[in-house]
Parts: sequence; structure tokens; C-alpha cells
Amino acid sequence: MEIMDQAANLRKLAGERSESAPPSGGVGATTLERTELEEISEPETRRGRVVAVTSGKGGVGKSTLSVNMAIALGRLGKKVLLFDGDLGLANINVLMGIIPEFSIYEVLKGKKKLSDIIIPTGFGIDIIAGANGISQLANLTDAQRDLFVEQLSELEGYDVLLIDTGAGVGSNVLGLVLPADDIVVVTTPEPTAITDAYGMIKSIVAASGATKKIKLIVNRAPSAIEAKRVSDRLMSISGQFLKVGVESLGFVFEENLVQKSIRSQRPHVVLYPGSKSAACINHIGARLVNASVKEDSQGIFAFFQQFLGLGQSRNNEEA
Ligand SMILES: Nc1ncnc2c1ncn2[C@@H]1O[C@H](COP(=O)(O)OP(=O)(O)O)[C@@H](O)[C@H]1O
Ligand SMILES: [Mg+2]
Repeated sequence: MEIMDQAANLRKLAGERSESAPPSGGVGATTLERTELEEISEPETRRGRVVAVTSGKGGVGKSTLSVNMAIALGRLGKKVLLFDGDLGLANINVLMGIIPEFSIYEVLKGKKKLSDIIIPTGFGIDIIAGANGISQLANLTDAQRDLFVEQLSELEGYDVLLIDTGAGVGSNVLGLVLPADDIVVVTTPEPTAITDAYGMIKSIVAASGATKKIKLIVNRAPSAIEAKRVSDRLMSISGQFLKVGVESLGFVFEENLVQKSIRSQRPHVVLYPGSKSAACINHIGARLVNASVKEDSQGIFAFFQQFLGLGQSRNNEEA
């Protein structure tokens, strides 16, 4: 409220100044432009941070992780909108046991606005459901796709906009990934998934010139050591051949309980909050937004610190 008042005051001030400013402006003119004003004052509508979750190979756990990370971020106090951007195999709503009335299809058809199709869930986050087999988004030009992501990020009141994308380096996927602030690449320890993750990173770098923050999650890891081996390797070859720094966000254990939650159409962090994989997801969420995490499950924090090569005290994470 105070911030809004400040913004209003600044606007008023700027208005008064511009009325009294000399007509030719020039150097030293005191008129505040709208953009300057927005820089000085907190904008009334915050732009949410756009995080795209993607992979080279399909079936590595993007959607499962997106749903659960989104809920983890919600629990950290973030207002989260999860957008199902997999236009071939939309399934976010299925993972959450939700039958949507409208999806992105109606928006692409021009029948609804994005803000009309937001679905609140009982899990502390909102979602926008995807539609299966729609090619419209693929046919958009790059500029139109950028605009689409821009519109998503401008939906009011969200801190984080998480986009679950499809797999692969097609323009359909890259078009959603490239405008994001953070790009999260998911892989598993399978050699084919690793190779394809590298291919994805390479395509992102080729298209964006190594300007994007690329982050990595190793899913379905049998152990922290195995996960570390995979992420170290990907980070090192990306640095060596692509001259890009890839940051490790963490790993998630392979666990039957994950599949059990998928079968019950209830998100894993909700159904099995005390599981090892849920603890991993909580840590990843916290790292994503630089927050600290409450430790439910003993030992995972130390595991994570070790995995990330930090080995420091929790206070450092919070700083
Ligand atoms: N941590 C995990 N442990 C066990 N199985 C997993 C895990 N993560 C994903 N899976 C399995 O992988 C399948 C594919 O996951 P999904 O999220 O749909 O992948 P994507 O969105 O990348 O295609 C899930 O249905 C589940 O059976
Ligand atoms: Mg998916």
C-alpha cells in the first residue's frame, strides 16, 4: 500500500514537474519520463520471473518436476502460475487431477484471454492447462511467440511463471524456452538423455548466444554420487565446447513413490511430503528462488550441499 502511495506521489510529482518544465527540455530537464518513473518507484504490476523447464529427450520427468517444483515454490510463499506449454502431450492437469474447462486452445483461437483461463488449484498454485496436439503455437512467428511469453509474464500478481515445455530442439519448444529468464534443463542419468540434454543446451546457446542462465536438474538419480557425475560432466562439456556456464540446481532420486503419486493424480510433494524425492524437490525450488528450506527429511540437506560442492553452512544458502 505504501509503495502504491509512493508511486502515486512520484507520478503526481512528475506530472507537476512536466507542467512546469521548460518547453525545450534539454540537458538538466527535470521532467521524469514514464520509464524513469517506473524504475524509481516500484511498478504497481510486478513482472513475474519466467522459468522454462525443458529437456532434450522426452519422458525425463519435466512435467512431474514442474508440478512439484511449482507447489514447492508456492509453499515458500511465492505466487506461482504453472503453464502447460507442451503442445504435443499436455498433462499438467492430469498430474493434478484437474479437468479444465478451458485451455490455451481457446486463447490461440482468440476466444479467451490468458487471464480468463487461469485455473486455481487446491495446491497453492494456479495453472493454465495445455491442449493436446495443437500446432497453432508452432506456427507463430518468433516475435509473436516472444509476445505470448511476455503476456504470460505480465499476468498480474505472480512472482514466478513456470512453463513446462515439450522435449527437443524444435522451434515449438525453443520458442517458449528462449524468452524465459531462467532455463531449466532436465536430464536423467541415461546416456541418451545426457546426450540430448547437451544437444538442447547447444541449441539454446546457438540461438541466444550464451546469454541465458541455464540450470540443470538430474532426475531419477539412483544416488547423489551418480547425479553429481552426470551434472559435472554436462557442466564441464558445456563450458569446454560451448563456453557457457551451466549451473546445477540439484537432483531428484528415482523413487517408486513418484510413480505412485502420478497414478493417484496427486502431486508427489503433497502425497508423500516426507519422501527423499520430495525433499530433493523442495531443495531445488529453494535454490531456484534463493530461499532457504525447512528440513523435513534428515540428511538430504547435507547430501545436497555435498552434491553441489558447497559443503557450507545453511546460513550461506540463506544469505
Ligand atoms: N523421480 C522419479 N522417480 C521415478 N519415476 C519418475 C521420476 N520422475 C519421473 N518418473 C517417471 O517418468 C515418467 C515421465 O515423466 P514426465 O514428467 O511425464 O516426463 P516428461 O514431462 O519429461 O515427458 C513418469 O510418468 C514417471 O513414471
Ligand atoms: Mg511432459
